[in-house]
Amino acid sequence: MTKEKKPSPPAGESDERVDALWSGRLSGGVHPAVQRYTRSIQFDKRLARWDIQGTAAHVRMLARQNIISEQDAETILGGLTRVRAEIENGIFPFRDELEDIHMNIERRLIEMVGEVGAKVHAGRSRNDQVALDVALYCLDVSGRWRSLIVEVIARLATRAEELKLELFPGWTHMQSAQPVSWGHYLLSFAEMFGRDYGRLQLFGEMNSTSPLGAGALGGSSLQLDPEFTAAELGFRDSFANSYDVAGNRDTVLELTQIATQLMIHLSRLAEDFVYLSSTPVGWLELPDSLCTGSSMMPQKKNPDLLELMRGRTASVIGHGNAVAVLLKGLPTSYHRDLQQDKEHLFAVVDIVSDSLEVLLPLLEGFSIKQERVAEDLEGGYLMATDLAEYLVEQGVPFREAHRQVGRLVGYCVDNLISLSEVPVEKLREFLPDSKIDPAQFLVPRKALERRKHKGSTGFSSIESQLETWRSWLGARTGS
Ligand code: ARG
Repeated sequence: MTKEKKPSPPAGESDERVDALWSGRLSGGVHPAVQRYTRSIQFDKRLARWDIQGTAAHVRMLARQNIISEQDAETILGGLTRVRAEIENGIFPFRDELEDIHMNIERRLIEMVGEVGAKVHAGRSRNDQVALDVALYCLDVSGRWRSLIVEVIARLATRAEELKLELFPGWTHMQSAQPVSWGHYLLSFAEMFGRDYGRLQLFGEMNSTSPLGAGALGGSSLQLDPEFTAAELGFRDSFANSYDVAGNRDTVLELTQIATQLMIHLSRLAEDFVYLSSTPVGWLELPDSLCTGSSMMPQKKNPDLLELMRGRTASVIGHGNAVAVLLKGLPTSYHRDLQQDKEHLFAVVDIVSDSLEVLLPLLEGFSIKQERVAEDLEGGYLMATDLAEYLVEQGVPFREAHRQVGRLVGYCVDNLISLSEVPVEKLREFLPDSKIDPAQFLVPRKALERRKHKGSTGFSSIESQLETWRSWLGARTGS
């Protein structure tokens, strides 16, 4: 058989081809264009810390199983410490021609400790190696996000406590609906982020399985001890099926899906705050330091931060979808397509982390312009439901009560008055069973006093929600 001739690099490019790790089988080196096309080092370098951690555990296991000597293991572990220091100090010589972070680290190790470093990959494939690095990375990220969510909820609880007695016209269909406490409103976001926290916690439990030892797809004929490496790396267990491990990206898919849901919550909060601080509404004021101005219009104070949060949610949804599509038609076991998961994962991680961080000063800094809100609390017939429910208590069937109050509201609309301005005689005419004094009964604050059941916007419910969140936070912050 004739050996392939080494293709020459494109004009103007130096031929930096190094002997690939598979040079035993393939001759002539990889074509520079293919090298550029297939490499992932430009993004997977961020897995370095976990790659070294995984390799160190693997080496300790190899020595424990007498596959390499204790002395070799010591030398390799010393080398890995030096590699790690180079990376942390920003002096590691990343080389594109070494394709990915795994081969960059292995090659550097060999350069540092000599041929003994070449023993490190025994019983391992980049398939289980990358699955391990990604799993460790995702578990680290989910822990960081949980801590950030705790901080977000702590701020929501603080602001809810401060604003629990202040009301605003709650809306559905963007139409005034019922009086709601700002505290209740803010705690609704604590519920959303609390669910995200729960999903991340479950994620940690579901994904506490080490893939290391699965090899390329069928394990190894060497006497490996995957349970040892799993325990060393803090996993609850090691994989049960090596073939599953080779092509499994559930961890990435699941984290990006959780991220999608979390970002959708952030985006809806952002949208609300844009609306609440908009010129026509003006109930909420954002701190100047979180807003930007216009290059042309001197008076502008724009909520760009919130708009970008809403906009970046689209990117997270897109990246999450890309991971799902990547996996959808992929044959089982490892295929190089899987390398693409990381670009999406890293993009999602950056957006979510940044968005949670920037939310903290926002939640601390916004203020409510209650005098402005008070004007709108007067209009909008917010107390109509309470009036109908009062009639129910007088024995009127709800549908009948609904109709009577509906007619009364129609009268108010025609006469440009609010419900509390209806003269008592008129009220008796529209609502024959009513004995109330509208000026006394139809006060928004009363609506919150009357609401007594769990979960409502009633004052007592808000107190118990706050109590629940305080103990939730206490259990997670040690305070
Ligand atoms: N860079 C690769 C990835 O991210 C590592 C695994 C490569 N495995 C292989 N058999 N070529 O998926």
